[in-house]
Amino acid sequence: MLRQYIYISTAGGITDEDIGSILASCQRNNAERNVTGLLLYNGRNFLQLLEGDVEDLSWVMRRIEADPRHNGVSIIDDIAIERRACPDWLMRHIRISDEVAERRAKLDAELPEALDPNLRRIILNFASLN
Ligand SMILES: Cc1cc2nc3c(=O)[nH]c(=O)nc-3n(C[C@H](O)[C@H](O)[C@H](O)COP(=O)(O)O)c2cc1C
Repeated sequence: MLRQYIYISTAGGITDEDIGSILASCQRNNAERNVTGLLLYNGRNFLQLLEGDVEDLSWVMRRIEADPRHNGVSIIDDIAIERRACPDWLMRHIRISDEVAERRAKLDAELPEALDPNLRRIILNFASLN
């Protein structure tokens, strides 16, 4: 059974290198577990969408929740899905544009088409914070 999680968390003073190492772990582990999704970082908070089989997602989420590079992991959505929104992305890091005025439009164009409209709104709102 496929599920999709979205959580937000607060980063603790991380660097570009940390992001690189997180993405390297994603490439390794998410490929093995067949977990796909996307990761946004606004300089202070993460928003991550993860999708896959429940057992695989639980395995990945346990590791993520134990990671000291962030805290306050809060799952804001946890739903059953019939097909993946990001089937081709092991973990796509989407950079949030610096210019607040352009952020929504740029991100909107980068988000996958198959994303539920409500989730799209949540993600765009997250990107507008800051
Ligand atoms: C915001 C955030 C998102 C992460 N996302 C993933 C993920 O999707 N998959 C993953 O394996 N590790 C992820 N990690 C890293 C894990 O917490 C952990 O460091 C990693 O699974 C260790 O695996 P490794 O020893 O194989 O590198 C994430 C960490 C953070 C802080």
